[in-house]
Amino acid sequence: MRMVDIITKKRDGQELTDEEISFFIKGYVAGEIPDYQASALLMAIVFKGMTNREIVTLTDRMEHSGETMDLSAIEGIKVDKHSTGGVGDKTTLAVGPMVAACGAKVAKMSGRGLGHTGGTLDKLESIPGMNVFETEEEFIAQMNKIGIAVVGQTGTLVPADKKLYALRDVTGTVESLPLIASSIMSKKLASGTNCIELDVKFGNGAFMKNVHDARELAKTMVAIGNSLGRDTRAILTDMAQPLGYAVGNSLEVKEAIDTLHGHGPEDFTELCLHSGAVMLHQAKIAKTFEEGEAMIKEVVANGKAFEKFRELVIAQGGDVSYIDHPEKFEVSKNVIEIHAKNSGFVKEIVALEIGESAMRLGAGRETFDDVIDMSAGIVLAKKIGDKVAKGDLLCTVYTNKEKEEYEPVIADIEKAFKVVNVFVEKPKVIEEYIH
Ligand code: URA
Repeated sequence: MRMVDIITKKRDGQELTDEEISFFIKGYVAGEIPDYQASALLMAIVFKGMTNREIVTLTDRMEHSGETMDLSAIEGIKVDKHSTGGVGDKTTLAVGPMVAACGAKVAKMSGRGLGHTGGTLDKLESIPGMNVFETEEEFIAQMNKIGIAVVGQTGTLVPADKKLYALRDVTGTVESLPLIASSIMSKKLASGTNCIELDVKFGNGAFMKNVHDARELAKTMVAIGNSLGRDTRAILTDMAQPLGYAVGNSLEVKEAIDTLHGHGPEDFTELCLHSGAVMLHQAKIAKTFEEGEAMIKEVVANGKAFEKFRELVIAQGGDVSYIDHPEKFEVSKNVIEIHAKNSGFVKEIVALEIGESAMRLGAGRETFDDVIDMSAGIVLAKKIGDKVAKGDLLCTVYTNKEKEEYEPVIADIEKAFKVVNVFVEKPKVIEEYIH
């Protein structure tokens, strides 16, 4: 078999065989296929696409390009969730403990933030002492003891994705449905859980800018997961405005704590209920989606969800006094309020702008080596559809940067808010449930 024949076959729009896909992945990971040939094939895939069978095979070969996690030593059905990334997306921090408090096994492998979206690992690390790296043995022991662990994925999983993603990043081949779907799903499958819930976000703050593309991606990933023997479901959620009020690491942890106590923002609470109910149904703990929602409400009301979060923090070495007394989290030295310049209804809060601004205030990283300021970020006071009077607080900005650095950011945050003088309906958070 020759790589050049595989490239020309895809260039001409033909379907690759399983053997040809295996040849490519094995050869590329082994260093036998050079980057220039791999890039050519990736570009041909960008233009010609792949059939569902090709995508399933590609994902399977990527999944098995390195080690895979064996979670069979953990009793019960293991569930994982994955968000395609958003602004203010602290869902794992709240929904993980909620679902685990209902008895599901939440084995969560998370990532770090880059660009305008934050990462769960960074958010967790804003709790002093919190360790997000565990050995497989520690992970399994924690899962059996408390039913939840949230850790970083080990470096030995899916080497094909690491190599291919780095190449895609510099060859203009990231934006391709088969390549995105196989990249995400190979990592989720290698993590070894029985069930996968995908939160596919759409809107200006998300990877997929419109609902149509997000739906296609979600359907493809659900089909891949189910074809490869895992119960995979997806929810499509709106990311035109930030999720909840808080954007920034420790600010989001505090909001997750509020939500676990039952007084979180409306949109975020709704997402947690919905997402959690799907996971409980997948784990066969709830017989119906509605029963799942009722169970989540109960563990929030009786304090068990919050208690589970405490257990998670203690198990991973975090200082639980910060969870019990969130006022202990350091507050940035500069706290700046932004007020409405006119009255009306909030029509837009451009999530991408808020996410990028939070990053520039210190809350995120532009490159993987940047150091994060855990206290920096933005807390919204209004959401789309809210009525405002001139002078009302729109948001509060937290930063340790100097004035010359943060002033242009404040101007951009102001521009992210659009207030109009006609009624604006509140957008729904959850667009669709795909299963
Ligand atoms: N996230 C991933 O993990 N892979 C992609 O290709 C795109 C987003």
